[in-house]
Amino acid sequence: MPWKRRASGARDRAYALNIADLREIARRRVPGFVFEYLEGGAEDEATLRHNREALAALRFVPQTLVDTHGRSLEAPLFGRTAAAPLVIAPTGLNGMLHQEGDIGLARAAAGFGIPYTLSTLSTTLLEDVAAQAGGRLWMQLYVMKNRAIAEDLMARAAAAGYEALVLTSDANVFGSREWDKRNYVRPGKPRASAVLDTLRHPRWLTSVLVRKGVPRFRNIEAFLPPGAASAVGGSTIIPQMFEPTITWADIAWIRRHWPGKLLVKGVLSAADARRAVDAGCDGIVLTNHGGRQLDYCVAPIEVLGEIAAAVGNRLTIVIDSGFRRGSDIAKALALGAHTVMIGRATLYGLAADGERGVRRALDMLAVELDRVLGQLGCCSVADLRASFLR
Ligand SMILES: Cc1cc2nc3c(=O)[nH]c(=O)nc-3n(C[C@H](O)[C@H](O)[C@H](O)COP(=O)(O)O)c2cc1C
Repeated sequence: MPWKRRASGARDRAYALNIADLREIARRRVPGFVFEYLEGGAEDEATLRHNREALAALRFVPQTLVDTHGRSLEAPLFGRTAAAPLVIAPTGLNGMLHQEGDIGLARAAAGFGIPYTLSTLSTTLLEDVAAQAGGRLWMQLYVMKNRAIAEDLMARAAAAGYEALVLTSDANVFGSREWDKRNYVRPGKPRASAVLDTLRHPRWLTSVLVRKGVPRFRNIEAFLPPGAASAVGGSTIIPQMFEPTITWADIAWIRRHWPGKLLVKGVLSAADARRAVDAGCDGIVLTNHGGRQLDYCVAPIEVLGEIAAAVGNRLTIVIDSGFRRGSDIAKALALGAHTVMIGRATLYGLAADGERGVRRALDMLAVELDRVLGQLGCCSVADLRASFLR
């Protein structure tokens, strides 16, 4: 009789072995409309699927009989050492996934020794994250038509000691996440079926909605019209406030208001990477927003090699979109990325078990990356080269 694989432990936090297991636990713990918000991509979700396919298509060619003892994951990042070549990506509405929200993510990142990026659409005040979590903090910026919002965020983040500003450039025209929309009768009004499903998740309902109230876009609340600050009503109104006229020329405006490191998140071509260098940026994030924006978009991993060849020694290259395994991270580092941003993988951890779950996710990725290093015959992330890939 063939041996049957049963992932019985995959539902239990204690037995989660990988990010896919954490995802399954998260899926059960939060109502369907929340999981859909976390998980979904734009339109046909071709970009979303392709991010995984492009990473999976790369295969390793290891070297053997190399001394790999004393391996280290440490990686330089903006003149300091990070415990691993990882950064937690900016994601809005984290307070919907678990009551610990941004604080849980930021504390896990700080404890692990990597930066946490707080979203403009976060549900926790940036000052509270700095006070309650500490660690290396980056601030993500969505520029809205009212530029005073961005200027306020930059001044407050600088005063609170944030290390870097991440200007997101790929969402000025907002993506259409159709499966997300299907959970609402109209913007801000969940369908009866979504409400019923929420009642079937009493633990989430009590810990998130009853005890803490509907999460709010706390960092920009003062600038929003009535009703737009709530996560339920605002998530459709806010994207309409985004500034579509922003261009590379606006980097000079940002520089006047932002004294720290500056990265542009949304670069996918060597030409744009060179523009980022010319504009004086310290880094770029190669991303397609985890498949949530432009559908039928290239995967960042596909364009990484040519971008690294063009600008790799002139600024810091960060990459995200689809990273779920240590092997994915090793592939990006081999192709010239300096560090990898983790989006959904740590959100699954948050939804599954708050700060502890995020830490679990980071530990899983680090252990896997360390194992891949050893199996490739490398002692450090700096040893990774494109010659390890086919
Ligand atoms: C639920 C969710 C919310 C997000 N919110 C933001 C955001 O507010 N600002 C931003 O720049 N990117 C946002 N992103 C994109 C992430 O920063 C990142 O680019 C993406 O998640 C990477 O892909 P991955 O989830 O496959 O790792 C969001 C992504 C998700 C999944």
